[in-house]
Amino acid sequence: MNYHQPVLAPEIIKIFDPKAGQIYLDATLGHGGHSLEILKKGATLYALEADSDNQKIATERIANLNLSKNFHLLKGNFSHVYSLWQKNIKLPLDGLLADLGLSVNQQSGQNRGFSFNDSISLDMRLNPKTQKLTAEEIINTWDKNELYKIFTKYAQEKLAKPLIFEIIKARQIKPIKNGVELSKIINSYYQKKHYRSYHHPATKIFLALRIAVNHEFENLNKLLHASSKIVKSSGKVAIISFHSGEDRLVKHFIQENSYPSKKLLPEHQEIKKNPLSRSAVLRLYNLK
Ligand SMILES: C[S@@+](CC[C@H](N)C(=O)[O-])C[C@H]1O[C@@H](n2cnc3c(N)ncnc32)[C@H](O)[C@@H]1O
Repeated sequence: MNYHQPVLAPEIIKIFDPKAGQIYLDATLGHGGHSLEILKKGATLYALEADSDNQKIATERIANLNLSKNFHLLKGNFSHVYSLWQKNIKLPLDGLLADLGLSVNQQSGQNRGFSFNDSISLDMRLNPKTQKLTAEEIINTWDKNELYKIFTKYAQEKLAKPLIFEIIKARQIKPIKNGVELSKIINSYYQKKHYRSYHHPATKIFLALRIAVNHEFENLNKLLHASSKIVKSSGKVAIISFHSGEDRLVKHFIQENSYPSKKLLPEHQEIKKNPLSRSAVLRLYNLK
């Protein structure tokens, strides 16, 4: 299996310095890349994950490495981290980690709807059992003002207006059913105008849809506020963001609370080995 490669893992482990007897929470288990490293140091680790495929992948991976003894999976969304902590952990944490966004299998998989190349779906829900709204519903039913709001506010899409015009024109002919169909509409507009772009032209539209479907900003805010209540005053919080909207929220939260903090970016070597790490920004803060 092609596991997700954890970003900035040695840096995080060095800063956390986990030990037996300590308690950590990984709010975004994914394939367990960071969690494994914490468990190897003998600390107790609770991990949250909303996606049932990833819950299974990480749990099996951790078991195969004989690291299950101190591992506790909490199935669910980190927007409920405070109540999950109250119910399952109760003790103040030595460290909290969130490696935001998607794992590789979610990003590129068929039938999840996150990929420009997904010819089956435009779903984008992390957990279809607990979430109702899909990206397909947004793109086919929201009016132009609602679409404009998410494309500009969540992803700063400069071409929001003309792209919405193209999307609405297309959906009047037939519903947009998958990632390939949506990215084709956006690509065609770029070709018609002879526009070029460094990233895939549909990057920001897909990002805005994903944020809207999964309430990413609201959930991150809940996690940040919960961190002040569930992490020890000597504890550490590490948040890895992958786009400016997320990072801005983390930065403002740290500033509002005057928490001592630092920012780390992946080194050139890491980006060469794992190109997906290139947009990562790690912010670390200590509670006062
Ligand atoms: C970038 S991956 C984490 C990768 C992990 N650090 C590793 O090394 O394998 C992000 C993971 O967080 C999960 N996730 C994203 N938002 C979440 C949320 N609000 N609640 C719970 N899990 C979430 C995703 O399903 C995905 O598996």
